[in-house]
Parts: sequence; C-alpha cells; structure tokens
Amino acid sequence: MRIDITPVEDLSPADRDELRALTIAVYSPDVIATLPATEVTWAPSQWAVRVRDDNDRLVSHVGMLTRDIAVDGVSTYIGGIGGVKTHPDARGRGYAAAAIRTAKSFFTAERGVAFILLVCLPPTVPYYERLGWQRYRGTLLVAQPGGTIPFTTNLPMVLPAHGEAPRDGTINLCGYPW
Ligand SMILES: CC(C)(COP(=O)(O)OP(=O)(O)OC[C@H]1O[C@@H](n2cnc3c(N)ncnc32)[C@H](O)[C@@H]1OP(=O)(O)O)[C@@H](O)C(=O)NCCC(=O)NCCS
Repeated sequence: MRIDITPVEDLSPADRDELRALTIAVYSPDVIATLPATEVTWAPSQWAVRVRDDNDRLVSHVGMLTRDIAVDGVSTYIGGIGGVKTHPDARGRGYAAAAIRTAKSFFTAERGVAFILLVCLPPTVPYYERLGWQRYRGTLLVAQPGGTIPFTTNLPMVLPAHGEAPRDGTINLCGYPW
C-alpha cells in the first residue's frame, strides 16, 4: 500500500481522470439508486489522500479541507474529511482506514486543528465509530445557495485532534458542507 496527500490544485489531468474513474466505480447507477435524492452544494476538498495497492492501482480516496468554523459562537479551526471511497474490488483491506488515519495525522501534526468533522449516511456510522469517531448530536448549520440552514441530510461525526470534539450545542460550518 502507498499513500500520498496531494493539494487538489496540484492534481494533473491524468490524476483527475483516475479519481473520476474511482468515483464512477464506487457510485455505479445501481448504488446511486439506493441513495436518498438530495440536492446539496458541497465544498471542494483542498487535499486528496490517495491510496494505491501493491500494483500501483488507485484503490481508495479521502478528501480533506480545513476551515475556521464557529462552535457555540467561538471561532475554531478544524479539519474536515469527505469523499471517502474505496473501489468495490478492494474493500475490507483497511485502505479507507489507513487513508483516514493519514488525514488525521496530517491535520494534527501539520495543521494543528482542534478536531475533525465529517458527515455520513446512517449505515456508515458504525464504520467510523470503529475508527474512534463519535456522533455530534447538536445543530449543524451550513451555507447553501439560499442562505444558512440546519444540515439534516447526513449525520455529523467528530474526532478529537488538538482539542476535545464537541458532542452537542451549535456548530456553524461558515460555508458549504463537505
Ligand atoms: C465505507 C468504505 C469507504 C470502507 O472502505 P474500505 O477500504 O473497505 O474500509 P476498511 O477496509 O478500512 O474497513 C472495512 C471494514 O469496515 C466494515 N464496514 C464497511 N462499511 C461498513 C458499514 N457501513 N458499517 C459497519 N462496518 C462497515 C467492513 O465490513 C470491514 O470490516 P472488516 O475489516 O472486519 O472486514 C467503502 O465501503 C466504500 O467506499 N463505500 C461506498 C462509499 C461510502 O459509503 N463512503 C462513505 C461516505 S461517508
């Protein structure tokens, strides 16, 4: 397994094609048909964590960003992950777990974030819980084209980094969700 973290702006057209092919493999039409139909405007990632297998094939991806958000009104610098996906042929080998751990190390050592936040669908909650993430049960406010709204499409989860991660209260992501 080989893992790199690359600024999204540095990805070449070939890198982007490779990531697009992974997305298409993960989100095939039959998988898309099982997902809730929602219209969400998402924030773009700033870094891509890419995992390759021993044959140099791209097998897993995690997108990362940092943001100053408001936690109960207090400005807080956090990390976010999204776009977690592993090729259907390569699942259950720890690739996504390794990518998520790499993201956490980078956020903690290189960016000094207070905590890390993601949003996911209910079936994936146990997966992240096994990796040490916890549900955030407060209100999550996000920007959408029409203004700031409570985000109820997916479930927020948090992982402590330099600080504790809040479990309740009000978090305003001060921008589009990820
Ligand atoms: C979720 C996903 C990223 C996991 O990728 P992966 O590389 O197979 O993950 P890992 O190898 O680190 O972990 C796999 C383990 O998690 C378990 N797991 C996977 N999805 C799970 C879920 N929804 N609930 C509980 N456990 C789950 C697997 O059974 C496996 O267990 P094992 O190690 O005991 O065999 C992958 O299944 C995927 O791409 N799914 C579709 C996209 C998606 O849902 N992404 C998450 C968006 S928030």
